Amino acid sequence: MLDIGLLRERFQQRYGIHPSAIVRAPGRVNLIGEHTDYNDGFVFPVAIDRATYIAARSRSDQIVRVVSSDLNEEDAFSIDHIERSKRPWHNYVRGVVMALRAAGHPLTGADLLIASDVPRGAGLSSSAALEVAVGYAFQTLNHLNILGEELALLAQGAENTFVGVQCGIMDQLIAVFGRADHALLIDCRDLSYRPVPLPSSVAVVVCDSHIPRTLAASAYNQRRQECNAAVQLLQQWHPGIRALRDVSEDQFAAHSDALPEPVRSRARHVVSENRRTLQGAAALERGDVAAFGRLMNESHASLRDDYQVSLPDIDLLASTAQRLAGCYGSRLTGAGFGGCTVSLVERSEVETFSRDLVQAYRHATGRTATIYVCRASDGVGRAVDNAGPQG
Ligand code: GLA
Repeated sequence: MLDIGLLRERFQQRYGIHPSAIVRAPGRVNLIGEHTDYNDGFVFPVAIDRATYIAARSRSDQIVRVVSSDLNEEDAFSIDHIERSKRPWHNYVRGVVMALRAAGHPLTGADLLIASDVPRGAGLSSSAALEVAVGYAFQTLNHLNILGEELALLAQGAENTFVGVQCGIMDQLIAVFGRADHALLIDCRDLSYRPVPLPSSVAVVVCDSHIPRTLAASAYNQRRQECNAAVQLLQQWHPGIRALRDVSEDQFAAHSDALPEPVRSRARHVVSENRRTLQGAAALERGDVAAFGRLMNESHASLRDDYQVSLPDIDLLASTAQRLAGCYGSRLTGAGFGGCTVSLVERSEVETFSRDLVQAYRHATGRTATIYVCRASDGVGRAVDNAGPQG
């Protein structure tokens, strides 16, 4: 957790007054249910104990000033006239403010100071954490009544239209609704969710491969198109389906031969991943971590072979982890083409597991992976400061 006192101090130094609110929104790791959210399907993420923090105070004019404490950079714009910036991080803030305005929420200007301990570009949703934190900061300062779903949708909309990334809704939803010590089974069609407690004897171990995710954006959009193509073709036999979420494994098997590659394999991943996600959540609910782990391993194989979003070095991380003592299951997490794996590991084995995984990866690739043992955390809210009350 970041030092809230320090954040407050930096705000005071920069703006000459103390902040009136400090909010936080977490990053996430998805346990299972990958590339299903934009197919109206099911996902099973946890919010992690790393977050983006914003110290904030209202202004009496329409100007928004933003300091990124981590990048040591600033931005300033007027709420009445928001344009795209060349600096990507500016656009997350500007995009969310624009989305709030477009939704009809009355806003005044604000001074903001942002700091985060969510690793950037690692596939742990640092962008969704920033978007949701910005939305919540403005909601708090302007005393707006915005439901969690709306906040998540506004943040996603900002990323889709203003930043230009066609992401699904998973990352923003978990940043809003995450619950300590739980994963959430989210239905990405109606946005309902069910919290499932994580057994205290197992740890969520994230391993960052440090492979730059250069291909991620273009491949992501291409996968989305392939899924849409599958829906259109399958509608010949099942006119009622709106998304791959509506296709059962039996229906798929009956018509898969008629689908061209790679559309067939892409659809097979999504249809089977939805089933694995529902089975996985049910397995954890009855305390069967071993069954959950096997589904994670199957999910990885499907992402590697059918969805083709893995890379050889990520496969190495997952397969090495799967063989190590105390590991129930391991898989690529997030969009793919680099980023992180997630493993469920017996708590007593975490230290040896982490050491051996990093060692094997370094030996094979020359790269040093970073391990994050994550604790499932609450979603967006006011940051708690143990040192004293907020200003
Ligand atoms: C990224 C997107 C999410 C989701 C995952 C893949 O994280 O932002 O919406 O599609 O990839 O599961």
